[in-house]
Amino acid sequence: MKAMVMESLGSANLRLKEVPDPKPGPGQVLVRLRAASLNFRDLLALEGGYGSRQKSAHLIPLSDGAGEVVEVGAGVRAWKAGDRVVGCFFPDWLSGPPNEAMMARDLGGMEDGVACELRVFRAEGLVAMPKSLSFVEAAAFPCAGVTAWNAVRADAGIGPGQVVLTQGCGGVALFALQIARAAGAHVIALSSSEQKMARLRQLGAQDTLNYKEDPDWGKTARKLAGQRGVDLVVETGGAQTLKQSIRATRMGGTIAMIGMVSGPTAELNLPLVAMSSLRIHGVAVGHRDHLAQSLAAFETNGIKPVIDSTYPLEALAEAVAQVKSGKQFGKVCIEIA
Ligand SMILES: NC(=O)c1ccc[n+]([C@@H]2O[C@H](COP(=O)([O-])OP(=O)(O)OC[C@H]3O[C@@H](n4cnc5c(N)ncnc54)[C@H](OP(=O)(O)O)[C@@H]3O)[C@@H](O)[C@H]2O)c1
Repeated sequence: MKAMVMESLGSANLRLKEVPDPKPGPGQVLVRLRAASLNFRDLLALEGGYGSRQKSAHLIPLSDGAGEVVEVGAGVRAWKAGDRVVGCFFPDWLSGPPNEAMMARDLGGMEDGVACELRVFRAEGLVAMPKSLSFVEAAAFPCAGVTAWNAVRADAGIGPGQVVLTQGCGGVALFALQIARAAGAHVIALSSSEQKMARLRQLGAQDTLNYKEDPDWGKTARKLAGQRGVDLVVETGGAQTLKQSIRATRMGGTIAMIGMVSGPTAELNLPLVAMSSLRIHGVAVGHRDHLAQSLAAFETNGIKPVIDSTYPLEALAEAVAQVKSGKQFGKVCIEIA
């Protein structure tokens, strides 16, 4: 089979290679991958950003893939050839609270990912694809969709009448916007571009703020949320956004600490966090059941994830460059022939 292999650290060292076809062992499933999607974390993994825990030599990158079952190993009853499936980000975290053992393996980081034609999965680490989604659309979910679902619905339980703030137009932010709107919440969405803000409104955001033109956007968001503050911030900005996020959040509200596209270290105003009874909730993707729930929510509500662009497997480096540029609106995806 063909696989995109990182010969040494850096996206310039990605090579399309012929490698031996994998075979499913007991409890495993062989999947012909049809699509994959990229996340900001793949940029980190390509630079060795997961430290000593990461597989760096000959890594097959990317965590998120969807495809068709080709063959099942001994003892597998849940799947058969031809089933359309999506793989989990953490194949060993199936439900409930996480622990280190459940998070010890992740695709495209600690072990090989899905930028390839065939891959063996643990049978329990797969979820059935809804009929309403294409392979590319389904491949958008395992990291970004699950993270947004975990933050907005599973943890914060956002529902009608509540206010959610999202940051930018990356995969997590757009999934969070769509999930919050489907739950009946009001969404305030940030972006640096007027053009993207118009698209955010088309997607359902009732308010949009330009974080470059309004550096005090935390105060503006609080005002838009009736002076009380927002119930949930889906924090993907990190260093340059946390201070404003704290200003935007209502007393007793939640900041879902997810990402750091603007840097990994931020100052924290501790008295403000304490006196506002803020909850800063660290989110590490989510489990298998979150993946199933997020896929079902999109099918039931008749909505589709936002796909920015699709590249063939051999153009993975171009797809990486698109994510690096920050110009995307939604998910950058790979189609695997
Ligand atoms: N903890 C987890 O489980 C988890 C899971 C998934 C992702 N993440 C993290 O979440 C972050 C987002 O991931 P992603 O894949 O969705 O990223 P992405 O697609 O690369 O997001 C890029 C977006 O970030 C926005 N942005 C950049 N600087 C900003 C700022 N100062 N304020 C507000 N928005 C800003 C830009 O929005 P505009 O162009 O509109 O300005 C851009 O569209 C990354 O740090 C990623 O590592 C964490």
